[in-house]
Amino acid sequence: MIRFLYAYLVISVAAVAWAQNQNAKLLKGVAVAKKGTPAVDAKIDEVWKSCPKYMVNQPIADLLEIDPKDMATATVRLLWDDRHLYALWVVKDSALSADSSDDWAQDSVELFLDQQQDQSTTYDTDDAQYRVNYEGKISGQGTGYDEVDIKAATTKNKKGYIVEMAIRTQAADMKVGTVMGIEFQVNDDHGSAQRDAITKWFHTKDDSWQDTSTFGTVHLK
Ligand code: BGC
Repeated sequence: MIRFLYAYLVISVAAVAWAQNQNAKLLKGVAVAKKGTPAVDAKIDEVWKSCPKYMVNQPIADLLEIDPKDMATATVRLLWDDRHLYALWVVKDSALSADSSDDWAQDSVELFLDQQQDQSTTYDTDDAQYRVNYEGKISGQGTGYDEVDIKAATTKNKKGYIVEMAIRTQAADMKVGTVMGIEFQVNDDHGSAQRDAITKWFHTKDDSWQDTSTFGTVHLK
């Protein structure tokens, strides 16, 4: 009987822990980056395989020009080490184009970062927008943006493309428990040389490039 009760207790505690873990994974606007250093080659190395995936699939309704089922979407995984944040994007995009003269209207992905997480409504020196198009062209904006801070690799596949980014962070003391503001965006042009859709991870308006107060959070684990 005692053994039975003990087993029951152990199973209950494990079930509660599992449920809490699932909840933590699903918390909206909260991402986790595990520690690790990948090769930045747009290949899904072993180190990425245990990282949670965050979905970038919410359209910006006002700017949607196509059927939502045709929008480009992505999953993003994150890693960090002492001086970098890494992001691996697996993008589904059925028609690739870099025809627009605006970088943000080409098929591309954008990572927005508020390194101090001070959630300023304009970009300060710790805030930047990093963009990579499907051909590997890097661009970006924001007071804290410096092109030397970002390295990226891309590959195309049947369903779309992969982007792997390494962003050199400002703090020399990134550690477990560090939090930063973060947002992810996919830009989609179906060949009109104009942007046909934007999808995001957390926020639902097209103002992440101006206002860091709407970002979600990344926790370094
Ligand atoms: C936005 C564009 C904006 C650009 C500026 C993008 O994230 O979607 O509308 O013009 O950033 O860098």
